Amino acid sequence: MQRFLVEPVQQFAGANTRIKKPTEIAFFSYDSEHKLKPLDNESLRYYYPPFFNIPGHQQDNRFPVDLSKGYDSFRQRDDSGDEHLDGLLDTLVEAETRNGKKTEVDLVTWRGMMTRILTAPYEMEDGFEMNATCFQGTIYIEENHAYKAASKEAQKARFSRNRGPPQDMAMFWGYKFETLSLLDKPWGETTREAIEGRENEVVDNYAQYCSICRTEIGGASMVIGGEVDGVLGYKPDDPQAPARWVELKTSKQPEHERDRWVLDKKLLKFWAQSFLLNVPKIVIGFRSRDGKLLNIEELSTQQIPSKIQQQGTYKWNGNICINFTGQFLDFLKHTIVGEGVWRIRREAKSTAIEVFKVEEQGTGNILTQNFIDHRNRL
Ligand code: A3P
Ligand code: MG
Ligand code: MG
Repeated sequence: MQRFLVEPVQQFAGANTRIKKPTEIAFFSYDSEHKLKPLDNESLRYYYPPFFNIPGHQQDNRFPVDLSKGYDSFRQRDDSGDEHLDGLLDTLVEAETRNGKKTEVDLVTWRGMMTRILTAPYEMEDGFEMNATCFQGTIYIEENHAYKAASKEAQKARFSRNRGPPQDMAMFWGYKFETLSLLDKPWGETTREAIEGRENEVVDNYAQYCSICRTEIGGASMVIGGEVDGVLGYKPDDPQAPARWVELKTSKQPEHERDRWVLDKKLLKFWAQSFLLNVPKIVIGFRSRDGKLLNIEELSTQQIPSKIQQQGTYKWNGNICINFTGQFLDFLKHTIVGEGVWRIRREAKSTAIEVFKVEEQGTGNILTQNFIDHRNRL
């Protein structure tokens, strides 16, 4: 077993790890039945806020909007199955078949796994478990599904002990806010009725648009796939053009000092998630305790770390997160080599991340046969 110390986090201060801006190399949609459509924009949605709250003007009379409306007709997908890296790998197969060459990187994973790593210096409460394998010189990392299922149960129990809203309802509010804030087609092709009708639309989480980016942190190059909630105006044809992605979040409107602290801590996750896929804008729908949408705030992802440094009530340092990630990925590159499957584990409240082999041979269920065959052909 190898251990990588996360604490003390100050050991990662100072240096400025080189980073490369993520660029989209492929994308896919899950359609309205959650069927995978590689290299298809079908489920991309367009950001258009449900109301405008311009300072100095009369407040929009649709305030406050009830985020609970439609809860009974929520078309909620059962996401309890283990999807491994399937959607990401199937899309890479399509993309590589089209352009005839392999995507050569050190690491391939979902954005969620990279978020855990990036936030590790300041996320002491939650643990994580991942499976990793090395194939043709690239490390593939997936979430360990058994661990995910167990922590979901624990989260449920925590939720029911807290005095907050029921967990299912709080989750619905997040998707409801997306439905209120996004359009299926660009604004120019949308009728006024469709824009205003969003309040009565059935909320549904089957469809998703996912972006697959190539990026570098320190000496590690990687391909990361993750969901993007929406785009502002249009998706530029040129992958090098400034991205127009928008990440939507809901959060309780801070009232007390404690709420502020919770929000500043959440901003670490929001920032990390968005930073990794080059999402420049995060839109937060602030709600009351009982799910009334009170106002909307648009944040620039890039400016969040310095805002936290200046006025955060929960202090975290984005630079330390990046430096830590650079060094940790370097460690993974030296540890996960040759045949077999490894576990990457951080126990809750632990000061270290452990990496150990769980299978001597093969690639576990991390890679699909389709992907392996494709790579062996290419
Ligand atoms: P909010 O986080 O805005 O409340 P995402 O923000 O990643 O685009 O996810 C959209 C919504 O899915 C979330 O909205 C939340 O309602 C739900 N969701 C995402 N991850 C979740 C998790 N781990 N547990 C419960 N709900 C989750
Ligand atoms: Mg999302
Ligand atoms: Mg979101």
